[in-house]
Amino acid sequence: MDWDSQPDKFRRMLGSPSLDLPRSGPEVTVPASSSLQSLSALGVLLHDAAGITAWKAQGQARWSLRANPSSGALQPLEIYLFGTVGDDKDPWHWHYNPYWHSLERVAQLPADRWASIAKQLPDGTIVVGLTSIVWRNAWKYGDPGFRYTHHDVGHQISSFAFAAAAQNASVVLLDSLTDDEISGLMRPDAPEEPVCLLAIFPSTARAPREEWWRHVRLGGDFWQGAPAAQYHGAPVQSYYGQPEQEARPLIAAAREASRRTSPPSDEADFWHQAPPQELPAAWASAGPLRPLIHARRSAQSFNPEAAPVGGLPSHIFYDILRRTLRQPAWFPWRSAVQPFFFIHRVADVEPGIYLLCRGRSKDELRKELDPAGKLAWEIAPGTPADVLLVLLQRGDFREEAKLGSCVQDIASDSAFAIAFLAEHLPGLEKHGAWWYKREHWEACALGGALYLAAGAANAGLQGTGIGCFFAPWVQGLLGVEAPRWADVYHFTVGWPKTDGRVDGGPPYIHADALRDFDRDTVSSRGA
Ligand SMILES: Cc1cc2nc3c(=O)[nH]c(=O)nc-3n(C[C@H](O)[C@H](O)[C@H](O)COP(=O)(O)O)c2cc1C
Repeated sequence: MDWDSQPDKFRRMLGSPSLDLPRSGPEVTVPASSSLQSLSALGVLLHDAAGITAWKAQGQARWSLRANPSSGALQPLEIYLFGTVGDDKDPWHWHYNPYWHSLERVAQLPADRWASIAKQLPDGTIVVGLTSIVWRNAWKYGDPGFRYTHHDVGHQISSFAFAAAAQNASVVLLDSLTDDEISGLMRPDAPEEPVCLLAIFPSTARAPREEWWRHVRLGGDFWQGAPAAQYHGAPVQSYYGQPEQEARPLIAAAREASRRTSPPSDEADFWHQAPPQELPAAWASAGPLRPLIHARRSAQSFNPEAAPVGGLPSHIFYDILRRTLRQPAWFPWRSAVQPFFFIHRVADVEPGIYLLCRGRSKDELRKELDPAGKLAWEIAPGTPADVLLVLLQRGDFREEAKLGSCVQDIASDSAFAIAFLAEHLPGLEKHGAWWYKREHWEACALGGALYLAAGAANAGLQGTGIGCFFAPWVQGLLGVEAPRWADVYHFTVGWPKTDGRVDGGPPYIHADALRDFDRDTVSSRGA
């Protein structure tokens, strides 16, 4: 690793006055009467979705961990907010800085044009925008950094969905927009690239029209005639000063190719489902979400000896599956991702490879995935009626799970590991290359639910996302037709070994200690 050029994973809007936000924590509550725009609700929402929740220390190094998991803790995304905040009646474009847990002003929004967008959204909506700095991932991972960035997008959407659900609010991905429209509103400072916009609103809010999420438009001239942004992000030196096209031509090409230039057409059969009205019932029995969000950590290694005799009790296992199938992150398209489970240590469930059918019947998936009829396709005995878990191959697949996950022990020492396969080529052909991003978002939102479902099980379990895997090898093992189906993400859940690097002290002690400093002069590099 070239530590000297390690990117700063916090970007500050230089010179911008900071609006410090109230912090969240496992026991914090938000008064039910607070609007999402109020500082108390917004502070808790942003902390629960993307704020610092712990630190890790090893040797001289000390780095922060956030509510949202991130591949290699590299945090390639920046978060923005559009609209009015607190008592200020003027709508602003804000930047959320998780290092300080504060909002930084970027520019005042033209009020009339903002009103024309707000009226297309449910009452009381706040709009969150995500941008990416792919360099933060490419620095460590090289070309796969583009894919890893979009893994993080799926997790970030999931983290917002759970953070919102903790305040009886919903998140809708505004997916009727083109990338040009999103860029037009976000006016990103290089090298940030706009990714998506999310509408976050009280779950009971009045909708502006039927299926409003299909019809939102920003137009192309949002800022026309308005002054330039007042504040800009601190300079980022990416790719050692080289243009991306020269340093990482594959990333530059993937970025360009996967831009959406026109809205999804009705002929392409994109719009499939309405957003859920409330938190799915499977999560109601999980108890309050905020303690789960703040305790969430990735396991670095598992101790298979810690498994109860016989393995993970099956009722706990099925609760985890239920909460993965029915989780609050919503996407409008027909579910494209199917999770293949490598079950190692679950009581009353024979070890083997299983499919958890999502959004489609067993027979439909059988025809699609196994036309030659090589696999068992038996409903696992004892499977509850609301969880369609199908046995494909019996046997001990611990070595295969590990090998398929870049030889990482976490995939074999666990209770179970998962390979998420997406319907890939048909989506690319139907919709265009932007589908590539969305299949990764969908898979990783399931990962987001798994992290919290592992905690909710209250059985000493933890999850870990696995972004390093050998897709062609796994596709071959599962016998699926590739690239019709593509392996896009892995995950694992088990009994963690204690990670002595985690410092569970107050996560914003640094911000308190540095309160009187000029924030433009404080270095967050390495944190
Ligand atoms: C998309 C994604 C991919 C990941 N891939 C791996 C992996 O291959 N191996 C691993 O040990 N951890 C992996 N992790 C775990 C991250 O390293 C972890 O999220 C990060 O260090 C932050 O720690 P936290 O999750 O405890 O906040 C992954 C996490 C995510 C979100």
